[in-house]
Amino acid sequence: MKKIYLYGNWKMNMTKAETEGFFKGYAAAVEPFASDLGTGLEVAVFPAFTSIWEAGYRSKDMKNKPIIGAQNCYYEPKGAFTGEVSIPMLKEQGVTHVILGHSERRHIFGESDELVGKKVKACLDAGLTPVLCYGETLEEREGNRTFEVMERQLRAAMKGLTPEEMGKVIYAYEPVWAIGTGKTATPAQAQEVCGWSKKLIAEVAGKDVAPVVLYGGSVKGSNAKELLSMESIDGALVGGASLKPESFLEIYGAYKN
Ligand code: 13P
Repeated sequence: MKKIYLYGNWKMNMTKAETEGFFKGYAAAVEPFASDLGTGLEVAVFPAFTSIWEAGYRSKDMKNKPIIGAQNCYYEPKGAFTGEVSIPMLKEQGVTHVILGHSERRHIFGESDELVGKKVKACLDAGLTPVLCYGETLEEREGNRTFEVMERQLRAAMKGLTPEEMGKVIYAYEPVWAIGTGKTATPAQAQEVCGWSKKLIAEVAGKDVAPVVLYGGSVKGSNAKELLSMESIDGALVGGASLKPESFLEIYGAYKN
């Protein structure tokens, strides 16, 4: 069986108190899969900035603790950038992974391909793992522009990286029309794009690079098995279903059983 990456993007949810509540149930939810952790399963949660410390604190003595990540960062190490959070600040909180280029950042907050690329590079330079999100809107899909849009997003994010660095990025295909809508890409649609992405990344980075590609968009226990069984899908980037430890781990349970 392949290794499954189960990553939970909490978005603007989960106060400090709610984060504490999540970790009260986490150990029991992950316990049935404890022997898979490492080689068969990797779990990460990405709380809001203000709950990162709490997540680290509540999980620090846990045997099966998840990776703690952030949902964004700025590429400059410090300075006059009101409202932004730097990579050194995140590292100090124990963060090792950072979600970048999420469609909500691109579409609600106007982040450009170029800005996302600078953040990817800055994270890699600092030894953090970027979780690079990309994907098309419904309008782009219906206009047959899916692959053109994604190629632009992926090439911009990989610009200036060495092949080795390209291999360290975790790629997450998230069709915008499937995020938070309850509409999931069919397993065949998700497989098509994830397979295509791997080919494109190998074309840019070279054949020695075997990229990890996740699918995100309304993943939950009831559709996880079909999606995660697809050959080119290495895991899931989960929004809504990651807010409770039971519904989050149920995704891996559905795949395994
Ligand atoms: P949902 O699982 O809530 O659709 O969110 C997906 C997502 O955007 C994860 O980054």
